[in-house]
Amino acid sequence: MWGTATSAHQIEGNNKNSDWWDWEVNKPARRKWPLEPSGIACDSYNRYEEDFDLCKQMNNNAIRISVEWARIEPVRGNFDRVEIDHYKKVLQAARDRGLKTFVTLHHFTNPLWFSRMGGWTRFRSAKYFAKYAAVCAKEFSELTDFFLTINEPEVIVSAGYLTGWFYPGKHNPIAGALVELNLHRSHNRAYSAMKKSTDKPIGIVKNVAWFETDPKKSIFLDRWLGKLGMFLNTGLSLLFVRKNLDFLGVNYYFTNRFVKLHRKNLNDKLDDLGWWIRAEGLEQSLLYLKKYKLPIYVTENGLADAEDSRRKDFIHDHLAACWNAIQKGVDLRGYLHWSLIDNYEWHQGFWPRFGLVEIDRQNNLQRKPRPSFHYYAEICKNNKV
Ligand code: FCB
Repeated sequence: MWGTATSAHQIEGNNKNSDWWDWEVNKPARRKWPLEPSGIACDSYNRYEEDFDLCKQMNNNAIRISVEWARIEPVRGNFDRVEIDHYKKVLQAARDRGLKTFVTLHHFTNPLWFSRMGGWTRFRSAKYFAKYAAVCAKEFSELTDFFLTINEPEVIVSAGYLTGWFYPGKHNPIAGALVELNLHRSHNRAYSAMKKSTDKPIGIVKNVAWFETDPKKSIFLDRWLGKLGMFLNTGLSLLFVRKNLDFLGVNYYFTNRFVKLHRKNLNDKLDDLGWWIRAEGLEQSLLYLKKYKLPIYVTENGLADAEDSRRKDFIHDHLAACWNAIQKGVDLRGYLHWSLIDNYEWHQGFWPRFGLVEIDRQNNLQRKPRPSFHYYAEICKNNKV
């Protein structure tokens, strides 16, 4: 399966009932992040048909979107019929263009009411999320091919509760541990609740980063540090939810290399955010996940590259890594590139450019396919690199 991935808050615009919106517009002067508010974003709330036309033009047969909890349940217990019908139209529009739909229920943003009652630090968060997830399963099942409950639990924990880059901007490991626990409890509870009204496969989106060592300079402890990193970032998550998964979504962006207990990346190739481009890390991560015996889809993989000077090679090398993993027995069934269009890159604002299609922010958010768009279109058409 070949496609691209997006998320609601990053492209739709005007997600006013969400905690992120509140965090963006009520930013105190002393706080650095986020660099700018999301505002109209890409206006995809209104321009989704144009976006899906691009997917079709790119010969994609799948798209990953997210539905926005803050729109669907703007007030606790009140599900908004107008918004539910809006997403049905969106999903139908994708289907009309021959796209299988991957639907994420939670991609970083929460309804304000949920955050104001303590959000994911609270035990009862699982009850609220499962209720919302059950509504989504019932309403969207017919138009959805794959459900994904929560995007990147460990990023919610680390960016929201350790580094403070994301809402709620905390530096509190104890709250972080509670959030880690509650996100996975929420997945499990949502999985059971959703199964009552859908027979579509349900997965979670795992952020994976590979940890490697330098064959010459690293010491024995570096290998243990890498193993610990893999466990905390990936293994622990799967320990919580592995019984409640029909498949696994994998987001891969970078690798970290440990030398003498320090992070010493080779940095021979970097993207605009300074992330080390390391395709081997994707192969290794997929091999690490093989033991769970689940069908895998790469649900995100991409780079910030405004010039589009590295994206073709990036795609080529990462797909070669996928192929290697398949040859070694990984049940990998699809690849969704991040992202279809340039979008709101969270605390960094709009400057990192992840799109196969450029969004011209000076010119009415015009969609302009980059050269790599045509390269990827050929791959999708021919089903080969
Ligand atoms: C991932 C997020 C996605 C996007 C990419 C660059 O962690 O899931 O929304 O921001 O990073």
